[in-house]
Amino acid sequence: MREMKQIINMTVNGEPHELLVEARTTLLEVLRDQLDLTGAKEGCGLGECGSCTVIMEGKPVLSCLALAVDAHDKEVLTIEGMSQGEELHLIQEAFVKHGAIQCGYCTPGMVMTAKALLDENPHPTQEDTKKAISGNLCRCTGYTKIIEAIDSVHSIGDLPGEKR
Ligand code: FES
Ligand code: FES
Repeated sequence: MREMKQIINMTVNGEPHELLVEARTTLLEVLRDQLDLTGAKEGCGLGECGSCTVIMEGKPVLSCLALAVDAHDKEVLTIEGMSQGEELHLIQEAFVKHGAIQCGYCTPGMVMTAKALLDENPHPTQEDTKKAISGNLCRCTGYTKIIEAIDSVHSIGDLPGEKR
């Protein structure tokens, strides 16, 4: 039996969308397959790696577990919404500068987790940062450079006019 589809409205990176989804369609599927936003990655598909992390209503969510219907009438931010044209977001710049990217598979999820952390807590301790990224797995970097990158953003975050 074919599953009923329903219409949802979702704002993604500031743009409103009306989408037709099934009850079991995940947010990750909608982002990647319907909106062609392929920055969020499907690593495990089981809520264990964090590579699919996006921000919904200011909170980091694992988009492989979140249902698209639960994003109805919500604001979603993905890695594609972080840069302004060619200009990288401060957090992305910091990842590049600190060598916190190797294969890059975990990076979009890490950056979104870092953004959610810094928005909620502009001056996290290293322990706060470690805790925040504990659900984001990285097989390449050993995490130290990622933590340094996030740390560098909050140390420059007090500059006037700083974007975050
Ligand atoms: S793909 Fe979502 S947590 Fe791994
Ligand atoms: S840079 Fe390769 S998994 Fe993190």
